[in-house]
Amino acid sequence: MKIALGADHAGFEYKDRIAEKLRGLGHEILDFGTHDATPVDYPQYGFAVGEAVATGEADRGILVCGSSLGIAMAANKVPGIRCAPVMDPYSAELARRHNDANVIAFSERLTGWEMIERMLQVYLETGFDGGRHAYRVEQLFEFGDAQRVRTLKDLERGEVTEAQTPKDLL
Ligand code: RB5
Repeated sequence: MKIALGADHAGFEYKDRIAEKLRGLGHEILDFGTHDATPVDYPQYGFAVGEAVATGEADRGILVCGSSLGIAMAANKVPGIRCAPVMDPYSAELARRHNDANVIAFSERLTGWEMIERMLQVYLETGFDGGRHAYRVEQLFEFGDAQRVRTLKDLERGEVTEAQTPKDLL
């Protein structure tokens, strides 16, 4: 796989270790930096990895920042990106099986390296379940004017309605 990597100054050490590990497994790496502890702005790395995946330059993306949160928020601004910040292997598995996450974000400050290695393996080896999950994931990308009109009606009613998953998908 071709994998895009990015991290800020609080995540570059894990990012470099991830790059080394993935190269050893035969993956091609696109490393967007950063490469040292000089303070940088995490949104720029989230955007770069997001665009690399969204344009097809990379198959998947992996991001690291101090908490995993800000850099994931940045990646999710890029249309077509489903980035999950994860801290345990089961979340990493569900991010793939249920949400078809094409980018994953890790925390260098809160997560031990062994946990990162396990989550990395799960993220790369787990497929998407499709079916009802595909139907729901598609809705994430239909957030245009029609969806907003629908949601504003839900706000008026004070409750979300008509969100039942079609029975043939269950
Ligand atoms: C940098 O100090 C830190 O804020 C950043 O790495 C990340 O945790 C932001 O969400």
